[in-house]
Amino acid sequence: MTSVENQTVDPTAHDSGNKATEKFKANRVSSDTSKERANAIYTDLLAAIAEVAHKHEITYEEYAVLKQWMIDVGEYGEWPLWLDVFVEHEIEEINYNRHDYTGTKGSIEGPYYVENSPKLPWDGEMPMRDKDKACTPLIFEGQVTDLDGNGLGGAEIELWHADEDGFYSQFAPGIPEWNLRGTIVTDEEGRYKIKTLQPAPYQIPHDGPTGWFIESYGGHPWRPAHLHLRVSHPGYRTITTQLYFEGGDYVENDVATAVKPELVLHPEATGDGNHVHYPFVLDKEN
Ligand SMILES: [Fe+2]
Repeated sequence: MTSVENQTVDPTAHDSGNKATEKFKANRVSSDTSKERANAIYTDLLAAIAEVAHKHEITYEEYAVLKQWMIDVGEYGEWPLWLDVFVEHEIEEINYNRHDYTGTKGSIEGPYYVENSPKLPWDGEMPMRDKDKACTPLIFEGQVTDLDGNGLGGAEIELWHADEDGFYSQFAPGIPEWNLRGTIVTDEEGRYKIKTLQPAPYQIPHDGPTGWFIESYGGHPWRPAHLHLRVSHPGYRTITTQLYFEGGDYVENDVATAVKPELVLHPEATGDGNHVHYPFVLDKEN
């Protein structure tokens, strides 16, 4: 729950879903997929659907429920949420594996990225409210390098994450626009050191059709605590990834299947909060 002046507002799946859909629609996308490739993909997709329908002898009632649910997902604006939670991790893995990348692994972007967050110095603090400052501080530091270990000065690290209640600015009511969002610019050696708060695990919005879907098969809507990152430098491959915390809840059973062992941080608790180090290694663009 979030406090707006003296009122308490519950963010709903409907609100955050519609905001994610509006953000997505603002940049119209296209792909140069050929007719031949489209034909091959759609033929296989329909064959896969037919196989599942036959294997499980889908009833007319189940078919009608599917149709109603798909209408609901659209009306709640939850296609970005549902697709990014249940499908994006496969697309991300396919596109990492099709190149010979050896740098830092990627992970899903999810529906809550916003471009052009405020620039921050290499050694600074994320924009946050007093209530965020009262949480356990997290000192996140490291270096951005190329594959040979040379520091990349002026690299940009876009960082966004949820507050302690699991809410993202611009997608839940009552949170300042750029809260817990920033673009850190590395120093001449590629170093960064940013103070933020220790994020907590959160449940993806589950009071709408994505939640009904999860409930229908007896799943759970939790994601482990994580930081979202997008790391870029001219001439290098931009990495979109997430970092997790060793031993944290749901690291082993993330609803979005987005955890990779290489992306797990090892926090050290010190008197002034949790410290984590992470080296980002960028592949050359190809
Ligand atoms: Fe997230």
